[in-house]
Amino acid sequence: MTNSIFIATTEPYSGKSLVSLGIMEMLLRRAPRVGIFRPVIKTPPPGERDKNIELLRQHFQLDLDYESTYAFRRRDAVHLISQGRMDELLDRIIEKYKTLEAQCDFVVCIGSDFEGEGAAFEFGYNADIARSLGTPVLIVASGMDQEVDGVVDEVQTGIDAFCERGCQVLGAIVNRANPFELVKIKETLRQRLGERDLFLEVIPATDLLSSPTVREIAEFTGAEVLYGGNQLDRLAHRNLVIAMQVQNFLPRLREDALLIFPGDRSDVLLAALQAHQSRNFPRIAGILLTGGLRPPNIVARLLEGLPGLVPVLLTQEDTYTTATKVGMVRSYITSDNRAKIRLSLDLFEEYVDGAALTNRIVTVPVQGVSPKMFIYNLTRQAQMHKRHIVLPEGEDDRILRAAEALCARDIVDLTILGDPDAIRASIRRLGLTIDLDQIHLIAPRQSPHFLDYAETLVELRKHKGMNLDMAVDQMTDVSYFGTMMVHKGHAHGMVSGAAHTTQHTLRPALQFVKTKPGFSVVSSVFFMLLADRVLVYGDCAVNPNPNAAELAEIAIASADTAQAFGIQPRVAMLSYSSGESGVGADVDRVREATQIARQRRPDLKIEGPIQYDAAVDPDTAAKKMPGSEVAGQATVFIFPDLNTGNNTYKAVQRETGAIAIGPVLQGLRKPVNDLSRGCTVEDIINTVIITAIQSQED
Ligand code: ACO
Repeated sequence: MTNSIFIATTEPYSGKSLVSLGIMEMLLRRAPRVGIFRPVIKTPPPGERDKNIELLRQHFQLDLDYESTYAFRRRDAVHLISQGRMDELLDRIIEKYKTLEAQCDFVVCIGSDFEGEGAAFEFGYNADIARSLGTPVLIVASGMDQEVDGVVDEVQTGIDAFCERGCQVLGAIVNRANPFELVKIKETLRQRLGERDLFLEVIPATDLLSSPTVREIAEFTGAEVLYGGNQLDRLAHRNLVIAMQVQNFLPRLREDALLIFPGDRSDVLLAALQAHQSRNFPRIAGILLTGGLRPPNIVARLLEGLPGLVPVLLTQEDTYTTATKVGMVRSYITSDNRAKIRLSLDLFEEYVDGAALTNRIVTVPVQGVSPKMFIYNLTRQAQMHKRHIVLPEGEDDRILRAAEALCARDIVDLTILGDPDAIRASIRRLGLTIDLDQIHLIAPRQSPHFLDYAETLVELRKHKGMNLDMAVDQMTDVSYFGTMMVHKGHAHGMVSGAAHTTQHTLRPALQFVKTKPGFSVVSSVFFMLLADRVLVYGDCAVNPNPNAAELAEIAIASADTAQAFGIQPRVAMLSYSSGESGVGADVDRVREATQIARQRRPDLKIEGPIQYDAAVDPDTAAKKMPGSEVAGQATVFIFPDLNTGNNTYKAVQRETGAIAIGPVLQGLRKPVNDLSRGCTVEDIINTVIITAIQSQED
């Protein structure tokens, strides 16, 4: 079951306050701790808070600190996005969301308002946020002032757009729909979208919710309240501009109208107030005098003596400007307006099938963890139990840049190998802010452990003809020295390979760190961070031609690695054949490997031989391998040999822009990981984090 929902809109004033009120009430019946989170709020005036958050926080008396319920003010978010710093925005949002999530059973996320600066980016960043949080989306669309087809087009476009950006869409609620078209809108939605198994409901517009209070009108127009300040919560359902004489405007008075006319029309003012008190005329909402013309003293004296006056306001602007402004006032549901809240909850209850929505939320399949969330989780995991990692390639600028980021975020302790003076000079040249007290710089030859390490190597490799001279020579190689630090327990793990080949990096580990009990081969996986999920590919880096038993072992090790990093393993043993469709020695090897793996680990879901398309695509899977628990939803992909694996991971990485973290070695007694020589600083950071976590398990 998902533990969150993202209420998103595609335009301003769609009525998401009503929907969020209804959903909160519905969820609070099932779970005591429901939180609210707005990734981006409007930039409120100083001293004010986000209306939507305050409505929910106060009405439901949520025990949540206001600051914990949002991540960005709109202006700051737009600034980051316009500078191309979307990653920073998402990282901060995930961090705040995860902190809130830890205090809650369920979190209702509410998208931005589509009002104000940066509207051009708005849809995109809401979709990216929902996808990164891994939260299913419920779209709220407005039916206001639209024909049936227009409303349905809007809903369909919204759903398609969120789906195209990799979001999981639960359905849509049309709010503020024409009350006479409800059935037609619902039917047309079902006709057009019925096949897509979506939750679709329609709520009618009501005067009460769309009408502003006199207080909202006074605030928006900057009007002064002359009388009736205790009745500002009256709702103004309509506006009436008066220029006529008394006998002509009185018949035009309507219930709950706001009357707008110049302040020097005492005749109209007195007649309107009389009419309000008369049994024969409707009640008005209030009076807005224009032109900065106050009622003359004698009239003011009369008014002051009248009991229960409706609000009388005064603006400095002329009647036309004032009326135009009043027409622009938007109504909000605020926590102090009990009538609007009650009506919203009643409408939600009446028009939204709460049981069906709850069922959707409970049964929606939880999508794989998003790439952003994956990296966030890894970073947190590494920080929780800090480890000490050795980086042998201190002469590489990328290593130093990665070290700066790792130290700044306090993720690991580091030792960097190389000439300490040269490393310090590089740090200065690059302008890095690394606190040199935080990292150890070691020149292998000058290390007090150097001789001990060489002697240990002799001990470990004498059966292979190793003597002290050879060992001393090898120990000057940073790969051997770094690996020996890990073997001796002087570091918890090693990451190298930015400047050395895979063979150079791995050989010392294969020679003397050796495999864990129960493993005969060291193999590797890549975590492939696609736009909307994380997949595991193995082995794309170490074993050129594994036999069936080795392939089975790689599959089991890869499934365990996936599990250890929060990915539910469903293992596809890849081949050019699915099931019984193809023949050949390579297919037979994969078939045999699948059998061995299933026998060794009956608890794992393993399918093979299977082609890549049948492994990932549910439609192809339904045709080629119906009934398989893995086909169409595989998360772990085992390639039959290194040629296929290495080229596939690189092709996917280059063609889709996916981030590939790895190769992450599995099966070694202590963690040593290799980098590609084309690695980026980000790759190094990620690999160090993975290595630190692997060493926690050890
Ligand atoms: N698992 C466990 N031990 C192994 C493995 C393995 N997969 N491979 C070799 N060993 C051990 C051997 O048993 C041997 O141990 P011993 O000396 O105690 O007897 C030791 O490692 C050295 O064995 P060699 O056969 O000499 O292996 P070598 O060091 O030449 O190569 C390597 C090992 C590097 C893993 C090799 O198999 C290889 O080159 N693989 C391909 C690497 C590659 O180029 N990958 C693609 C690029 S990576 C990328 O794109 C990110």
